[in-house]
Amino acid sequence: MSLRRRTLLKVIVLGDSGVGKTSLMNQYVHKKFSQQYKATIGADSVTKELQIDDRLVTLQIWDTAGQERFQSLGVAFYRGADCCVLVYDVNVMKSFDTLENWHEEFLKQANPPDPRAFPFILLGNKIDIDGGNSRVVSEKKAKDWCAAKGNIPYFETSAKEDYNVDAAFLCIAKAALANE
Ligand code: GTP
Ligand code: MG
Repeated sequence: MSLRRRTLLKVIVLGDSGVGKTSLMNQYVHKKFSQQYKATIGADSVTKELQIDDRLVTLQIWDTAGQERFQSLGVAFYRGADCCVLVYDVNVMKSFDTLENWHEEFLKQANPPDPRAFPFILLGNKIDIDGGNSRVVSEKKAKDWCAAKGNIPYFETSAKEDYNVDAAFLCIAKAALANE
């Protein structure tokens, strides 16, 4: 008889307001999508259980506010994170340009023992819009950024069409587990 170990993994989702952090989480956890924008205030966490090999894993996903005025919780809860998910909108250049700040701020606040080895994942969201014709950030540009940051895994997603969402979160869970 094998004994299963249950593992709690803490994941922080960061990125500019409106890029689709909450939508990605809702699609992943509840299989729901809403067109309506409702800004996240403070930070919310949801949990999702999944099995990875013989491990039962509980992902505790922290969805944060992209809008500065709603970042009321501060960043103290970055500490103890097992993985950080950075999200941008492939149709909005500014949301890509600010990734640098989110990345840096996370490392500063979470203060992991080995910053170069800490698992990040980048998601380029909203690839469904206009059949991809309105995108302003190329896949290559995003992948180059990931390479420069120490080979961060990159996924292009659509929370609306449920494209690549499960695959991205599985990668996130595995990265977090490896870090644990
Ligand atoms: P904050 O909570 O302010 O940080 O924003 P957020 O990153 O959580 O964005 P949210 O998930 O609330 O999505 C913002 C808007 O984009 C909403 O109107 C969503 O319906 C829409 N949206 C999110 N993901 C997608 C997507 O993949 N495709 C399309 N077409 N729209 C999306
Ligand atoms: Mg939100």
